[in-house]
Amino acid sequence: MTHSKAERIGILTSGGDCPGLNAVIRGTYKAARQLGYEVIGFQKGYEGLVDPVSYVHLDDQSTAGILIQGGTILGSTNKGRFAAISGENTRIDLDPQLLRGVRRTIDELNVRALVCIGGDGSLAVAQQFHEQGIPVVGVPKTIDNDLSCTAFTFGFDSAVSCATDALDRLHTTAASHERTMVLEVMGRHAGWIALHAGIAGGADCILIPEIAWSYDNICSKILSRRSAGRNFTLIIVAEGATLPDGDLVTCEQTLPNRRASQPRRVEDRQVRLGGVGNIIATELSDRLHTETRSMLLGHLQRGGGPTPFDRFLATQYGVHAMRLVAGGQFGRMVCYQPPNVSDVMIADAIGQLNKVDPLGAAVQTARGLGISFGDLLPEGSVFGPVSMSASPTTSIPASSSVLLPTSGLPVPTATLSNF
Ligand code: F6P
Repeated sequence: MTHSKAERIGILTSGGDCPGLNAVIRGTYKAARQLGYEVIGFQKGYEGLVDPVSYVHLDDQSTAGILIQGGTILGSTNKGRFAAISGENTRIDLDPQLLRGVRRTIDELNVRALVCIGGDGSLAVAQQFHEQGIPVVGVPKTIDNDLSCTAFTFGFDSAVSCATDALDRLHTTAASHERTMVLEVMGRHAGWIALHAGIAGGADCILIPEIAWSYDNICSKILSRRSAGRNFTLIIVAEGATLPDGDLVTCEQTLPNRRASQPRRVEDRQVRLGGVGNIIATELSDRLHTETRSMLLGHLQRGGGPTPFDRFLATQYGVHAMRLVAGGQFGRMVCYQPPNVSDVMIADAIGQLNKVDPLGAAVQTARGLGISFGDLLPEGSVFGPVSMSASPTTSIPASSSVLLPTSGLPVPTATLSNF
């Protein structure tokens, strides 16, 4: 099918990068080409949409081989002029002049739809575009896996794989030297990476933002391991896990060179987290007079190529985004509701983050293994308190009307035949 006038699909990657972005770009491009669209990629996230407009034409050559590549060929930014939320859930209305500029770009370049790949903040921008009548489809991305309405965001599995590998490596050196090792992983609001990698990598303690912990309880765990002849301990902590006094540890606190008086740049809307693992390691060493080391895994979790699972998920997301475009279903976000890729309204997916359920199945699995979350369970309790909800990991709001499996999507027959 060829469109009379070169109708285009615009695609962009916004926010922190993660493995699988290129796989979405490729999937979208391939499906769009089959539908007869040209595809252009706006550069550096939403910034490329306006003043100055910056984009590249995507073709078979520029998308060849990118399935397995980390990062994004389009560039990305999590700073700049497009910020639609601050902190958790607080909406910031985009500058109307900026929105007019985006509209102009879309019209002048004959863009039929924008495919916006991003996390909670970036999808909140896409939602405001939708409210202004700009045709958008969202694709959820973040290694943190903290977006609602989808069981998984792509990038998460790759990050878990990296963190698990780090734990595996720390395991052997911790055992050799009889040390306590603290591994700090990403997870600003949610502890999914720490939880999954902690279980997969055999951690002894998992510390996450969703469960309050104390040094006493971690010390008890280390001591009980010692009395069982296990003279080393592996602790994994999410960067967003607050200290027992409720403090969030930021780079500003832990980087000695940064003067406290130095103003944070206006576009730095998010404080940089980092350093909680080191603080924990120091405290444990002081309390137990034991050799303790900490390791901050940082951006290694975001770099590199996607795992096969993330390639598969990201590719499905890209193709499904084009199904939505073909069906004129704008303002929707693709999502994964196992076993199917599906879609929900973007409005339903943003604002409320998907956090670890402290009473959920994964936490109970960990507790069943004897992993400590640094909290105190009632005497004799193995699994801790149990959630009443059957499936705690994904919350699909009741207002999401179209929740059909992929095969049931209301896409016109003529369009479906193109796949
Ligand atoms: O949201 C994803 C994330 O990786 C967080 O876990 C982390 O706090 C943040 O991005 C880091 O962002 P930046 O690359 O800007 O330091």
